[in-house]
Amino acid sequence: MVQAKKWSPRFDSPLHPQIADFNASISFDIALIEYDITGSQAHAKMLAKTGIISADEGEQLVSGLEQIRQEYRSGTFKPGIDAEDVHFAVERRLTEIVGDVGKKLHTARSRNDQVGTDTRLYLREQIGQIRNLIRDFQGVLLEIAEVHVETLIPGYTHLQRAQPISLAHHLLAYFQMLKRDWERLGDVLKRVNISPLGCGALAGTTFAIDRHYSAELLGFADIYANSLDGVSDRDFVVEFLAAASLIMVHLSRLAEEVIFWSAEEFRFVRLQDSCATGSSIMPQKKNPDVPELVRGKTGRVFGHLQAMLVVMKGLPLAYNKDLQEDKEGLFDTVKTVQACLQAMTILFHEGIEFCPQRLQQAVAEDFSNATDVADYLANKGVPFREAYNLVGQVVQTSLAAGKLLKDLTIVEWKNIHPAFEEDIYQAISPRQVVAARNSYGGTGFNQVREALQKARDFLQTAD
Ligand code: ARG
Repeated sequence: MVQAKKWSPRFDSPLHPQIADFNASISFDIALIEYDITGSQAHAKMLAKTGIISADEGEQLVSGLEQIRQEYRSGTFKPGIDAEDVHFAVERRLTEIVGDVGKKLHTARSRNDQVGTDTRLYLREQIGQIRNLIRDFQGVLLEIAEVHVETLIPGYTHLQRAQPISLAHHLLAYFQMLKRDWERLGDVLKRVNISPLGCGALAGTTFAIDRHYSAELLGFADIYANSLDGVSDRDFVVEFLAAASLIMVHLSRLAEEVIFWSAEEFRFVRLQDSCATGSSIMPQKKNPDVPELVRGKTGRVFGHLQAMLVVMKGLPLAYNKDLQEDKEGLFDTVKTVQACLQAMTILFHEGIEFCPQRLQQAVAEDFSNATDVADYLANKGVPFREAYNLVGQVVQTSLAAGKLLKDLTIVEWKNIHPAFEEDIYQAISPRQVVAARNSYGGTGFNQVREALQKARDFLQTAD
């Protein structure tokens, strides 16, 4: 616990040690230290450029801050909880290094615009990393899809066999979801990349600062137009958490599929030893822990989104200490999404193997070609609804007889409807059933090959 000092000369007595602990954010906002240093260096340069401090003072501040960065990286600067937060920790160390001039750093600035600046710089970088991880994962999905264009897998609706599809088509569906995630983060980035620096505590400052200059030094694309909004806006955090939640939804859906694909009842994939674990009691077990953890970790990311929305909803303008609560959920979300993307990339790269024989057997042994029988008749002029009902009856009698559609004789087909010819057998073979769905975006092999080409182009060009 902290032996707190008086907060400032305006106070008669120090904080209760437990309250000092309660108030402090250094244990987690230390993660912002390098962004805080970078932000402060830009602020110092702006103060020098505008003549608010001298050029020499500006240089001392910038190099003192750089020294803190090196000390932090080498592990010699480890601020304790008595620093309250990362901003105070850096400012205090700066004054130790450069002397009284360090006390000029906080001219024309508040921790309110400072912390907003730091959080944006942090998130901007993390979003860049997450977008790269999304692309890595897409690359692995694409590699697998490339070799499985003609591998068929049952397609489901309501988790009931519906129509067979190309395995590549299935994987490319996730490629598309991830593409949207990548784009969505790019969109969020536009609102992350706006500078609140210079908004002061809430109302701007009496100094003739140059907000555009500090923003430009930090690579911000724009600056907040309203100082109250600038210091109290956390929309960009909420937006990021929402985008992260959707990434987790997508990963979790895929994780769920891997989990049941690996179950004995499916056996569509085999888990490789590098990504599976055993049971402490059942010697035969091989468990899909990786996708289970991804599915499980989704909950905490949704929770962070919910928590942040609730933090914001009743806040009057402008800064309120509630906003300190934006960080832990944000940091945890960044860490979780990055870890899940990496784990899924490894899982798909080397942790699962599709079982083509089992898949081939699966698509041959069901009624998922029934739509194609109806389509066959519809092509011969039978109204689709009539054909649908007729095939429904055929499925029912075949089920009762323990037969599949492919087992019916040509005489039986002709008894059902005279329009059936020998080519019905070809039309209902799983391969043909898939190949025939050549409508744009469908699972037909030609469509899938085009989709693969577009996916390759996307990975090569998007940035
Ligand atoms: N640690 C604080 C936070 O994370 C920094 C800003 C403090 N501002 C203040 N007016 N107390 O939000």
